[in-house]
Amino acid sequence: MPAVVVVGTQWGDEGKGKVTDLLASEAELVVRYAGGSNAGHTVIIDGQLFKLHLIPSGILSPGTTCLIGNGVVLDPAWLLREAEELQSRGVSLEGLRISERAQVVMPWHTLLDELEERERRPEDRIGTTGRGIGPCYVDKVARLGIRVADLVDPEALADRLDAVLPAKNRLLQKVYDHPGFDREAVLAEYRGYAERIRPYVVDGAALVRRALDEGRRVLFEGAQGALLDLDHGTYPFVTSSSTVAGGACTGAGVGPGSIDRVVGVAKAYTSRVGRGPFPTELPDETGDLIREKGHEYGTTTGRPRRVGWFDAVIVRHAVRVNGVDLLAVMSLDVLAGLSTVRLCTAYRYRGRQLPDFPADLRVLSECEPVYEELPGWEGELSGCQSLGELPENARRYLNRLSELTGAPLGLVSLGRERHETIALTPIYTRR
Ligand code: IMO
Ligand code: MG
Repeated sequence: MPAVVVVGTQWGDEGKGKVTDLLASEAELVVRYAGGSNAGHTVIIDGQLFKLHLIPSGILSPGTTCLIGNGVVLDPAWLLREAEELQSRGVSLEGLRISERAQVVMPWHTLLDELEERERRPEDRIGTTGRGIGPCYVDKVARLGIRVADLVDPEALADRLDAVLPAKNRLLQKVYDHPGFDREAVLAEYRGYAERIRPYVVDGAALVRRALDEGRRVLFEGAQGALLDLDHGTYPFVTSSSTVAGGACTGAGVGPGSIDRVVGVAKAYTSRVGRGPFPTELPDETGDLIREKGHEYGTTTGRPRRVGWFDAVIVRHAVRVNGVDLLAVMSLDVLAGLSTVRLCTAYRYRGRQLPDFPADLRVLSECEPVYEELPGWEGELSGCQSLGELPENARRYLNRLSELTGAPLGLVSLGRERHETIALTPIYTRR
């Protein structure tokens, strides 16, 4: 049975939660492979709103196994809080599994996230979510990390703490004038978490392999978006992980041949939280209108999101670096009521049109979007069950969007509820 990856094609918050939720009901295993509690995936079921950060959105589909893969950075305190909240709302955590190879977010990671951000020049501040994501991945790469396997083995935890904490404390004391962390206190706190997390810990890659071998449907739930990817995004205004579809291979432990489909999720406009370039940003009334109508406030931090017109240049870039097979276009309803809508088809830089998304942020900051203006549409879209039922101008907008990004439409979302969706192509089919 096929394996499908759901990825963001913009700067995150595209609606991956809803798409994952829709597809999870038909999947046996849902896997998060990147990021951590910086993600904020919103799912609405029968008017009930769920915000998931670390636990895969598939947890809301009874009977689905949900794996936090090795590519994720896991803050145990966050996980337990999220788990408790879900349980208090009647969601079963029976299906939850955690890879023993996932990295653990330690208290110094969260602290350093804040201290490093403060240390940067104002123009260099990334506007991170403050969840310790960057510093935790830094330690992973520097081989100074603590993994879930170490966390749940009391001896290994003490040993790893002795290997990393003295250097961390010297850094905190000498550079940041911070007292540092007490070994015994950290050990006691994390041993406490370990007791509660141990029942969920498994060999993640083996679990995924078994599911694939048994012919089960596996869904990889991406976090963030291509433009926040460490390699392919607007560096350095990015997150610290491989958010693209390729990240599913390393972040879950499967070969590229096991992935059958990549679904790219794109909002019908663009949004961004945190700092960094955003060529089609609308710092005006239209932007305010879209923000309010689209509930564009951060799920994780509550910050108002920056919003702008749909940018086909970035989504084309995302389609390429992810190998997107099908596009899920979200929040089309939010644009209803505007007299005209715009699509950015290219960037103009010093009098010429750029063929691709530039890597150099100085170039990007000088780029002017080239817009194509289309007539808007009116009315309530949420009842539409097929493309044919949509207002003609909405349909025209979608077709043009698909043409410009080079990806066929697989799904169109017309609201936050599950049923407010037009499914165009069966997603779980092999190439
Ligand atoms: P989902 O999965 C939108 C942004 C932050 C910041 C940058 C780096 O809900 O789409 P980090 O804390 O990761 O070091 O912050 O990345 N960011 C997101 N923006 N959606 C997300 O996740 C994000 N996760 C991180 O705002 O600009
Ligand atoms: Mg989000």
